[in-house]
Amino acid sequence: MLRPMTQTTDFGFREVPRDAKASMVREVFDSVAPRYDVMNDLMSLGLHRAWKQAFVAAIGAGASDTLLDLAAGTGDVAFLAKKRGAGRVILADINAAMLGVGQGRALEKGLASGLDFVCCDAEHIPLPSRSVEKVSMAFGLRNCTDKDAVLREGFRVLRPGGRMHVLEFSKLEVAALRPLYDAWSFKALPAIGQRIAQDGDSYQYLAESIRMFPDQPTLAGMFEAAGFERVAYRNLSGGIVAIHTGWKL
Ligand SMILES: C[S@@+](CC[C@H](N)C(=O)[O-])C[C@H]1O[C@@H](n2cnc3c(N)ncnc32)[C@H](O)[C@@H]1O
Repeated sequence: MLRPMTQTTDFGFREVPRDAKASMVREVFDSVAPRYDVMNDLMSLGLHRAWKQAFVAAIGAGASDTLLDLAAGTGDVAFLAKKRGAGRVILADINAAMLGVGQGRALEKGLASGLDFVCCDAEHIPLPSRSVEKVSMAFGLRNCTDKDAVLREGFRVLRPGGRMHVLEFSKLEVAALRPLYDAWSFKALPAIGQRIAQDGDSYQYLAESIRMFPDQPTLAGMFEAAGFERVAYRNLSGGIVAIHTGWKL
C-alpha cells in the first residue's frame, strides 16, 4: 500500500521540507565520517560490534552470493560478510566521505578484492532488477527520506529467493528502562559527540532520529507493503536494536 506523500518529513524532531532532508543527512555524515568508527564504539559501549556480528550471521551470504549493503558507511557489515565467506559485496552509500573511509579501511585490511563501492541514494539503486541474492542495511534506513521507497528498491534488485535484512535502532521491550536510555541518548551522546568530534548537533540528530523511527511491528508492516513475504524480526539487547528480514519469493 502506498502512503500519501507529504511535503515535509522528519529530520530528528524537526519537520523539514522533504527535498531538504537528504542534503541535511549528508552534512551530518560529512561531519562525523572521520570520527565515525571511534564514536560508534563510545556511543554503543562497543555493543554495535556484537549487533553487526549477529546481523552478518543472519544474512549468511555465501561464496556464490552477491550482497548489496545499502548505507554501507565505513564498511563494517561488508568486511564482516567478506570474512564469513561472502562472494561479491557492493557497498552503496549516499555519502562519498563515509565510503572513502571505507575504501581506506578495505585496503588496510587487504580486503579490497570482491568489493565494489557505489555512491548512490538507497531510494534509487543503480542496479538492474533481480541482480543480487542478498540486500542488507545497517543503521541506514532511519536516515532515508522515503523509507518505503528504499524497501521497494531492495525488493526490486533482489532475485526471487533472495532476502533483505535491516538492522536498526528500535523500541525497548522494557518500558521501565526508557528513562535511563533517554538520558544516555539525549544527554550523554551529544556531550560525547561535542567532546570527541566537536559536533554535538549531529549526535543530537542521531539520537532524535532513533526516537522517530517506526517500532518493530510498524517496520514489519512496511516490509510487507513493499512486497516481502515471511517477514520477521528479532530484538537484540532488549529491543535497543532489531533485525528485520523479508523474502522475495
Ligand atoms: C549510521 S551510518 C551506518 C553505516 C554502516 N552501515 C554501519 O552500520 O556502520 C548511516 C549511513 O547511511 C548513509 N545514508 C544516509 N542516507 C542515505 C541514503 N538515502 N542512501 C544511502 N545511504 C544513506 C549515511 O551516509 C551513512 O553512511
